[in-house]
Amino acid sequence: MFLRNLNLFHFKNIEEAQLEFQRDVVCLLGKNGSGKTSLLDAIHYLSFTRSAINLSDAQNVKIGQGQFMIKGQFEISGKSKEVICSFQAGQKKIIREDGQDCIKFSEHIGRFPVVLIAPQDIVLIWNGGEVRRNFFDTLISQLDKRYLENLIIYSNHLKQRNSLLRSFSESGNVDHDLLASYDQMLIPAGNIISQRRNQFIQNFLPILRQQYNFLIDGAKEEVRIEYRTDLSNANFEDLLKRNLSKDIAVQRTSAGIHRDDFDFVINENELKKFGSQGQQKSFLIALKLAEFQTIAEAKGLKPILLLDDIFDKLDDFRIHQLMILVSQGKFGEIFITDAIQGRSLQIVNDAKVKAQFFTVENGRFTHG
Ligand SMILES: Nc1ncnc2c1ncn2[C@@H]1O[C@H](COP(=O)(O)OP(=O)(O)OP(=O)(O)O)[C@@H](O)[C@H]1O
Ligand SMILES: [Mg+2]
Repeated sequence: MFLRNLNLFHFKNIEEAQLEFQRDVVCLLGKNGSGKTSLLDAIHYLSFTRSAINLSDAQNVKIGQGQFMIKGQFEISGKSKEVICSFQAGQKKIIREDGQDCIKFSEHIGRFPVVLIAPQDIVLIWNGGEVRRNFFDTLISQLDKRYLENLIIYSNHLKQRNSLLRSFSESGNVDHDLLASYDQMLIPAGNIISQRRNQFIQNFLPILRQQYNFLIDGAKEEVRIEYRTDLSNANFEDLLKRNLSKDIAVQRTSAGIHRDDFDFVINENELKKFGSQGQQKSFLIALKLAEFQTIAEAKGLKPILLLDDIFDKLDDFRIHQLMILVSQGKFGEIFITDAIQGRSLQIVNDAKVKAQFFTVENGRFTHG
């Protein structure tokens, strides 16, 4: 899949831009704060209907303006497709594919796959379980609609169950029948999600290791992801029954797949505590490249790869390995940003990759 043209209007610090991408590798070079990440974020919008950085759409409208518009012309299995995303303050965001408004954004997501590798990925290692669950949920949902449906069922019934627990706690009365009706929905959904997460990690692990091993080539480092769940040694139904009085006391459901985690491990130690900065970054790159490979295999379509500030913290060897993958054409279209212009020019030239360069200055993009 390729993005051939991109038009931007009042998006972040970009007043207006009309860009045409002629090569598979596009480098965006410019000083800090010039607008490199903003351009990648616009591409992210077209794929995921939202920013990779800001939760609120309004924050992405150029300061002082009332709306933004992003228009992309994609080439996908030989066909041309236009995607527009526009947002006006106080109105509903619009996603339009070939002139047709998209009613359910969840149906758009996954049709124009993008994998972003960015500095903020570090939260996947440093933060709590929620970010890791979100990462894997988003990935598995793109491959398996049934998983997504069960996630929605689980999350809705968990919310209702928790508010029921609060009301039991306040009134002192427990309505066992009502509770059982929620649990009847929660239990099968929880079991399906847990089994799918477990199975997914088993398939994903060899891909992750292969990507990591290629990046480090011969260094003695072994990485692993361990899936942890309350459901590993216990039946979910028994667990809910056993915890009922505790759940009423704490006014929430204390066991279930909403507490699952995915431990990242290097050489049998926790990556967060024992991994060096470069090892953590290498792990995240391998994780995202494994994501790329998983989506590409499942959809028969190579996602667009967005590499934001990828060269920071990587040693020359690991950069070289990454560029081998780029030069071998393992990916489809790649966007690379760098604030250190000379470095990227050198890396791309050394790898003999034919790239298109843009200089970015104050939200303006010029060729060369
Ligand atoms: N809604 C907005 N309106 C106007 N400017 C904005 C808006 N949101 C962000 N900016 C500004 O846009 C500029 C470009 O940000 P961006 O993250 O794209 O820079 P960058 O080129 O990636 O820099 P770095 O090399 O530091 O990562 C920043 O100065 C930022 O403050
Ligand atoms: Mg940036």
